[in-house]
Parts: sequence; structure tokens; C-alpha cells
Amino acid sequence: MTKICCIGAGYVGGPTMAVIAHKCPSIEVAVVDISVARITAWNSDQLPIYEPGLDEVVKQCRGKNLFFSTDVEKHVSEADIIFVSVNTPTKTRGLGAGKAADLTYWESAARMIADVSKSDKIVVEKSTVPVKTAEAIERILTHNSKGINYQILSNPEFLAEGTAIQDLFRPDRVLIGGRETTEGQKAIQALKAVYAHWVPEERIICTNLWSAELSKLAANALLAQRISSVNAMSVLCEATGADVSQVSHAVGKDTRIGPKFLNASVGFGGSCFQKDILNLVYICECNGLTEVANYWKQVIKVNDYQKNRFVNRVVSSMFNTVSGKKIAILGFAFKKDTGDTRETPAIDVCNGLLGDKARLSIYDPQVTEDQIQRDLSMKKFDWDHPIHLQPMSPTSVKQVSIVWDAYEAAKDAHGLCFLTEWDEFKTLDYQRIFNNMQKPAFVFDGRNVVNVEKLREIGFIVYSIGKPL
Ligand code: NAD
Ligand code: UGA
Repeated sequence: MTKICCIGAGYVGGPTMAVIAHKCPSIEVAVVDISVARITAWNSDQLPIYEPGLDEVVKQCRGKNLFFSTDVEKHVSEADIIFVSVNTPTKTRGLGAGKAADLTYWESAARMIADVSKSDKIVVEKSTVPVKTAEAIERILTHNSKGINYQILSNPEFLAEGTAIQDLFRPDRVLIGGRETTEGQKAIQALKAVYAHWVPEERIICTNLWSAELSKLAANALLAQRISSVNAMSVLCEATGADVSQVSHAVGKDTRIGPKFLNASVGFGGSCFQKDILNLVYICECNGLTEVANYWKQVIKVNDYQKNRFVNRVVSSMFNTVSGKKIAILGFAFKKDTGDTRETPAIDVCNGLLGDKARLSIYDPQVTEDQIQRDLSMKKFDWDHPIHLQPMSPTSVKQVSIVWDAYEAAKDAHGLCFLTEWDEFKTLDYQRIFNNMQKPAFVFDGRNVVNVEKLREIGFIVYSIGKPL
């Protein structure tokens, strides 16, 4: 029986390995992590992450051919294939701080693999890493290799949160990069055989290591660029009376452009887009490619502009001050169908409004009070360094209350800000909400989730990204 071990039981490691176990009953899969709390949660009824469809997949395989464990060394030493899916956040200090990827977690995993291995291993980069990381990892692994043969593969993950299970079940493609040697090609075939259990052969792309590593950064950069492009158009729409939804629809009908990923928003969030573009910018700068670096930096600048613009819109429409005014924040996660708040635009918007002394009442169906308080008191770039490894008591932000109901959040509020496109926001009783709000009652829709005409009929003053005012 082939044995797989995945180091890192996070948003990628957990779902990816659960799907491999589900699709490959003949493979034994162990997911290991240094976080006891995370592993305990994976072994309980309350999984550590919210992802539609994940519970069923885990329940079907857990205890049969899928195991979650903190015994990292045992499972690594027994495995034939080791996926490394640890976090690779932006460096917060030292050389490249604020841009370069922090590979501390990756390096410590690689050193541990080198220490405990007694047989040949295929080591798979699942985390998103800078191009050429495989070379560094190879050096760490072979430094004291005791005659063990290590083959490093790059197999970046393209799943999106909220749709992870469907993305894993039916991936657009699986990408595997390896050395162009006989042993490298053999390792590629071994990993390909795992995916071939359910992914059609023509969707499994094999490349050299550097193409695979760079393709992951390129994919995220292009996706984020698309959002910044449509968000830049939304500004022009507001200035000219065009409607960004109509523009996106018309533009997306061109088959060369396509309809997906053209929703204007308060800005993109999530743990990866900004981090991976900064990483790309740093690599360009290290290679002396200033113009290319500046090109990609602009994607982040437009995203920051969009978030700032939203805050400015709220403050300026509410008579240039929100001091002491209650504002309801509806949605805090970085997108719907996830409880993840890493780099959510809601953090910047809330901090902007708090800076103007607003009182915030926040509701999100999946994000806990602790998480929101922690996010609002955290420094930039600290968010992806495993907090669960260093528990800290969050300092409560006084002007903020977290409630478990949109109606409660909106009660006596001067304005509503929609920051996540949760489906339930489409069917709220807006007449009831209006009746219980201060007047004039404002709506600021950062996700184009509400029906602007209907709300205006009720009496709301509605501002929606990229829509005529
Ligand atoms: P995560 O923070 O949810 O999970 C990483 C886990 O690794 C944590 O639980 C941490 O405790 C564990 N870990 C760190 N060092 C360890 C060590 N030495 N030994 C054992 N466990 C260790 O991160 P994530 O969102 O799953 O992302 C992981 C990687 O995948 C990142 O590089 C990210 O860029 C990439 N990625 C993420 C997504 C996504 O949707 N979140 C999608 C594609 C790729
Ligand atoms: C993104 C990519 O889509 C995945 O392919 C990739 O694997 C992953 O990053 C990663 O490397 O971590 P994710 O961040 O989970 O996935 O979610 P997306 O659906 O890409 O959304 C990212 C952000 O962009 C969200 O805040 C979302 O609301 C925003 N967005 C998305 C828009 O504002 N408009 C759109 O049209 C699409």
C-alpha cells in the first residue's frame, strides 16, 4: 500500500488529502501538524475549517485510510510521498520584509524530513513558494542524506476556498513539475498515478520544476489583476453613469475574455493574492526587473485604492463624519462560504471607519467573535503566522460589537456596509431593517449583493460599487 503523508493540516492540506483518500482507497493518507488544536479538531465533529462538502468526505474516510495526527516524525518516516503544505506567509522582518515569502515553516519541515527519513522519498511542494525553492529544499534534504534518494516535485494547488471540494473533485488541471532526469520523470509518474484515480489524463500537466513553481504565482497574479482591472473600471462607471455589472456582462461575452472573475468588489482578500503578488514583485526586483515589478505592484495599489475609496464613500456620504454613529458591517469573511478572514477587505474597511470613530456592529454567519477582535487588533502581515501556535488573548476593540444576526447588527444603525456576498443577505427583510434604522438610512454595497432598486423604493440611500448613484 502506498503511504502518503501531508505536513500541514490547513485549508489546503486538510481538504486536498481528504479528497485523495476518498478517491484512492488503496492509498493510506496521514495529515500531520504541529498544532494540537488543529489535529484535535480534524478528529472531531467540528472540523477546523468551514468548507461546503468537506464534512462528508472526511467522515467517509477518517479512520479507514485517512488519519490526522500530531506524530509528525512517525508518519513522515513511513511515507513514500510527502506533501508539504505549510503556510508561506509574507516576511515581517529582515531582508525582503513586507514582500518576500517567509520560508521558515517550509525549511523546518524539510529539516525534519531529512532527520527522520530512512527510505527514499518523493517530496512534493504543495505550498505556494518562490520560483527556485525546490533547489534550496533539495540542498537541505541532501545535506545529510544518509544515502537516501529524494525527488522534489512541485505540485501547486489551485483550489479556491468555499469551492475547495468541487475544485478538487473536478480540477481544471493538475500541475506537476519535476527534474528532467530519469529519476525525476519516474517521480512525476508516481504522483501522476495518484491523481489519475479521478483526474482525466489530459488534465494532468507535467513540466519542469521552475515552470510549475512560477505558474502558481502567475495564475494568482493574473486572477488578481483581473479583479483590479474590473475594479478600476468600476471607478470609471461611477464617474460616468455606466453600470459595472452591465459592462462586465458585455465584456465577458467575448470568448477570449470569458465571464468568470469579473465581479467588481470592495477589493480582493484572502490569504494568497496579495502575498503571492508581493512574492512575485520581490523575485522581479531581485532579478533587476524593475518595470515588471512595478507592473504587478499596481494590481495591489488598485486594490488598496478600492478599499480606501469605499471607506471615503461611507464617511463623505454620511455628512463627512461617522463619529459616534453606529454602522452595521454585514459579512466579515474574505468571500462567501468560508469562515476565513485572512486579508479580508473587511479588516481595512473596519479599521478605516474606526479611525473616524464609528461604532461598528459586525455580523458574519461563519466568523467567530474572537477571530474578528483578533483581526482588528493585529498588525499588517502578522495574520498568516500561525496564531494557534502562540495563543494570545485578543485585546477587545471597544467601539466594536459582534452580533449573531443581521437584524440585530442593523438595529439603530445609520448605515449598512455589505462586505461579504453571503447568499442570506439577498433575502433579508429590508423593510423591517429600514424601520429599525436611524434616518436617513444608508446602504453601502461592497459586493453588489443587494437589489438597488428595491432598496431605494423602501427609502434607503444606496451606494453600490460601480453603479450609477
Ligand atoms: P494554513 O495556515 O491553513 O495551514 C498551514 C498549516 O501548517 C498550519 O496548520 C501550521 O500549523 C502547519 N505547520 C507549519 N509549520 C509546520 C511544521 N513544521 N510541521 C507541521 N505543521 C506545520 O495554510 P493554507 O491556507 O493551508 O496554505 C498552505 C499553503 O498553500 C500556502 O503556501 C498557501 O499559499 C498555499 N495555498 C493556499 C490556498 C488556500 O486557499 N488557502 C490555495 C492554494 C495554495
Ligand atoms: C484564489 C484562487 O482563485 C485559487 O485558484 C488559488 O488556489 C488560491 O487563491 C490560493 O492560491 O490561495 P481564493 O483566494 O480562495 O482562491 O478565492 P477567490 O475566489 O479567488 O477570491 C479571492 C478574492 O477575490 C475574494 O476576496 C473574492 O471576493 C474576490 N473576488 C473574486 C472579487 O472581488 N471579484 C471576483 O470576480 C472574484
